[in-house]
Amino acid sequence: MPVPATGLRDHRGAAHARLLGIGAHRPGRVVPNSEVVAGIDSSDEWIRQRSGIESRRWATPEETVQVMAVSAGRQALERAGLDARQVDCVIVATVSHLLQTPALATAVAHELGTDGAAAYDVSAACAGFCHGIALASDLVRGGSARHVLVVGVERLSEMTDPTDRGTAFIFADGAGAAVVGPADTPGIGPVVWGSDGEQFDLIRSREDWRDVLASDSPRMPHLVMQGSAVFRWASFTMAKVGLQALDRAGLGVEDLDCFVPHQANMRITDAMARSMRLPDTVRIARDIVDQGNTSAASIPLALDRMIAEGDARPGDTALLIAFGAGLAYAAQVVVVP
Ligand code: UT7
Repeated sequence: MPVPATGLRDHRGAAHARLLGIGAHRPGRVVPNSEVVAGIDSSDEWIRQRSGIESRRWATPEETVQVMAVSAGRQALERAGLDARQVDCVIVATVSHLLQTPALATAVAHELGTDGAAAYDVSAACAGFCHGIALASDLVRGGSARHVLVVGVERLSEMTDPTDRGTAFIFADGAGAAVVGPADTPGIGPVVWGSDGEQFDLIRSREDWRDVLASDSPRMPHLVMQGSAVFRWASFTMAKVGLQALDRAGLGVEDLDCFVPHQANMRITDAMARSMRLPDTVRIARDIVDQGNTSAASIPLALDRMIAEGDARPGDTALLIAFGAGLAYAAQVVVVP
């Protein structure tokens, strides 16, 4: 049966969306492997070989998630040549904002000086930034926003147990951001995303707040990870997701300039690149070496470094693949701003 006309109007946005600017905040404290090994009976050599990490960045006491998110967001806006009042929506991807409510994004939008932009957080762990980019692209093309600021920020150092061998050397802190806005040609390819909740327990907070309160010695619910199971899933499944994202964008590996996967582990990055048969000409992000695994912040931080070092140039195509707790993942091809 035909739906009767109501007079309701809907709305279309820009023909296409693209990244307009990238920003980064790398925390002040450089933490070499030698500083984390004591608590976990490990060695600098083991950590380098198994993860590729030589040092990581941890936030100083002053570098809260809000401080880092605002700093990265401000830089992304400057590079996009935009005033904060031109931002209609702020999306913050994070798992380390310690208030259950309100969303960190509202404070970030206010401190940046947006004119009351819509603001909300996304909880998709290490996949959060690519979820945010997918949402931003759809908001711009759907007409709900003209400019969207997407921030990935984490302060995992305070959510990590320094005596847990499986996580203490991996997780780190930082923030990265991107401004998404209208474009005449496609600048953000279709997202390939999904989740596998059957593997919910592979990376998670060790306990919920009720367990914490019931404990005789309450402490922050630290992250725990079944590393090798996540490693296998990421190395094999994510390469297929990357190829799907390329295919949906109408590109092949030979069209790709840059590969910017979540900086989870250098061996996962290498396994994905091998399995996707990326040509040698594709430049690969290796920010993990001195930044560690910063979850939602890792892809924009890695892309920022590639741009700064000339490995990603304006107009280049870059494949982003993010994956982590949930298990959740998202991938898309973007054009480098
Ligand atoms: O960001 C979200 C997504 N996260 C990821 O994608 C992380 C995925 N996982 C990983 O990156 C890796 O699993 C780790 C780097 C965390 C661990 O590397 P692995 O090669 O999977 O190590 P493993 O857990 O299989 O352990 C191998 C060996 C074991 O000894 P045996 O049984 O072979 O004698 C462990 O006891 O290494 C030992 N081991 C360690 N040795 C020194 C485990 N952790 C450590 C450690 N230092 N920290």
